Amino acid sequence: MITADLIEKYNVAGPRYTSYPTVPHWQPEKFQLNDWKTSIRQRTSSEKGISLYIHLPFCESLCTFCACHKRITKNHAMERPYIDAVLNEWRMYANILPADTVIEEIHLGGGSPSFFSEENLKHLMDGILRYFPVAENHEFSWEGNPVNTTFAQLKTLYDVGFRRVSYGVQDYDMSVQQAIRREQSFETVETATQMARTIGYTSVSHDLVFGLPFQTVESVKNTVEKTLKLAPDRLAFYSYAHVPWLKGNGQRGYDEANLPTGHEKRSFYDLGKKMLEEAGYAELGMDHFALPEDSLFKVAKEGTMRRNFMGYTTTQNNTLIGLGASAISDSGDMYAQNVKNVEEYQMLVNSGNLPILKGHKSTEEELFVRQIISDIMCNGFAEWQLGEISDLTENQLEELALDGLIELTDTNLKVTELGHSYLRNICMPFDEYLIGNKSENMFSKTV
Ligand SMILES: C[S@@+](CC[C@H](N)C(=O)[O-])C[C@H]1O[C@@H](n2cnc3c(N)ncnc32)[C@H](O)[C@@H]1O
Ligand code: SF4
Repeated sequence: MITADLIEKYNVAGPRYTSYPTVPHWQPEKFQLNDWKTSIRQRTSSEKGISLYIHLPFCESLCTFCACHKRITKNHAMERPYIDAVLNEWRMYANILPADTVIEEIHLGGGSPSFFSEENLKHLMDGILRYFPVAENHEFSWEGNPVNTTFAQLKTLYDVGFRRVSYGVQDYDMSVQQAIRREQSFETVETATQMARTIGYTSVSHDLVFGLPFQTVESVKNTVEKTLKLAPDRLAFYSYAHVPWLKGNGQRGYDEANLPTGHEKRSFYDLGKKMLEEAGYAELGMDHFALPEDSLFKVAKEGTMRRNFMGYTTTQNNTLIGLGASAISDSGDMYAQNVKNVEEYQMLVNSGNLPILKGHKSTEEELFVRQIISDIMCNGFAEWQLGEISDLTENQLEELALDGLIELTDTNLKVTELGHSYLRNICMPFDEYLIGNKSENMFSKTV
């Protein structure tokens, strides 16, 4: 059992490690556009398969807890010009990629893809799917806000190969919903879930968040009970990331005093995890749960689950092309992030420029650490050769072992049952950028 002291000790600011180095530690001055194009082309030439992430940033109203990159508007005239810009950006990448490229994975994220009409979603997908074939066992998924997801949108995307949809649920308690300005009933989520299943989606996922303002043990219990009634195939149970310093963030609609303490937050997570496991879900990597029939469960058990900017994934390729404002791309040894402002993004793309804001080219040392972090995050196990890690890293790992979070030998570590809830902390000793660096106001708290 972890004690209150240990929760305090490990509740520090830390990255979620969807990349290494993490975005604040990239060195954009060393990034060259030509290197980036070569890296994307070479990686795809050897692997063929690629993943696409398409960022659709618009939402009609602001949920005040939200840390995603979004643009709040009710002006639906913004849809078509934005999609046309995404298609222009994709055309530029299609010219860089080898002709025998195969699309293995597409994820539409946001913001709210369900902001867009079914006609515009069809226009988007027709343009995306025109250059390259799609792999037989492809994984196409999208994020819908249950409040505005329609049957027609679900069907349009199903018809072009989407089989997974994830819905933002967050919490069913009325006082929590009012505080985060996101009121949605159980019936709304139920209808959205049933529509997807009726159409033939094989994986419906729900996002829940623990650590929101006014949450209590009772409200979390009630939310998980309601969730279990709908039996989503996959579940994200995210720790609320309180990052009010991020530009454009709305995390100011409630007082910090209304937020649960680190200790309370951990008790919400423990309760949710226990209830989900009793109902047959398995915890996979960090924040994720799935039923045994779900594809993520299968790859996790085989030890082939991967992690990238979209979260956990079943696909095995190393090329992720991110299209749209703020989207991040990854060629395996380089990263690139697009400009965040919608108008600037459209202007750059429409004048024939890749809309890259900044990027990073990884060193051999960074690629080594990246692999270790990925192994911890995905498989709870990592190994290295004698002499490959520093004394400082070793000392920090020994402390984690003493606290019962890992089993440690000279050349490997295995995450314990207790340590599973502290994966970010277990990765941090390998992160050379955190040494002597204050990461407050850069990352959310790890608990
Ligand atoms: C882009 S949103 C989901 C799609 C859609 N816009 C919706 O809200 O239903 C992705 C998910 O990120 C999670 N999320 C957003 N802000 C968060 C935060 N500050 N901490 C933890 N999770 C957060 C929420 O669970 C949210 O459903
Ligand atoms: S939670 Fe979803 S709907 Fe709400 S602001 Fe964030 S992206 Fe938009």
